[in-house]
Amino acid sequence: MAERTLRVSKIKDGTVIDHITAGHALDVLKIVGITDRVNGIVTVAMNVPSKTLGLKDMVKIEGRELKSQEVDKIALLAPHASINIIRNYKVVDKQLVRLPKVIRETVKCANPACISNSKEPVKPTFYVDKEEPLRLRCHYCGYIMEKQDIPKQF
Ligand code: CTP
Ligand code: ZN
Repeated sequence: MAERTLRVSKIKDGTVIDHITAGHALDVLKIVGITDRVNGIVTVAMNVPSKTLGLKDMVKIEGRELKSQEVDKIALLAPHASINIIRNYKVVDKQLVRLPKVIRETVKCANPACISNSKEPVKPTFYVDKEEPLRLRCHYCGYIMEKQDIPKQF
């Protein structure tokens, strides 16, 4: 059945993060630094029916574009997300987030004894063993990080 109304309104200028894995909208807000106080309009939709994902979350941020570091973090928790840049109500750019095979510096190893958590000058590095559910393997100590270990760090 065709939708009779828009669930959330269109935005004029800003970013729409669409196709977020259901359950991760609040993690995405945390990644982009939207916590207790907000400047400008932010719209959050959770558990919206999606043709491809079953259910999805969505975040719309007026007047803001994302930094590439923020996009890299979103990819870890929502590997199917799309980042839509809106200018004057039109989608002027649409990018799918992507998870590289090797993740550097975005996350820290959860093993306190790992050399990457010491004073040694080594950068946290992980291999993506599995995309969904996420499994990252530390290059230095082999520790396995799963999706639930990650949002706590952001
Ligand atoms: N959107 C918005 N404000 C606008 C334009 C678009 O909030 N002025 C939102 C749409 O509601 C949608 C997303 O941005 O959630 C992407 O828009 P569009 O590419 O037009 O939608 P689809 O074709 O459905 O995108 P996709 O194929 O990525 O699902
Ligand atoms: Zn490690």
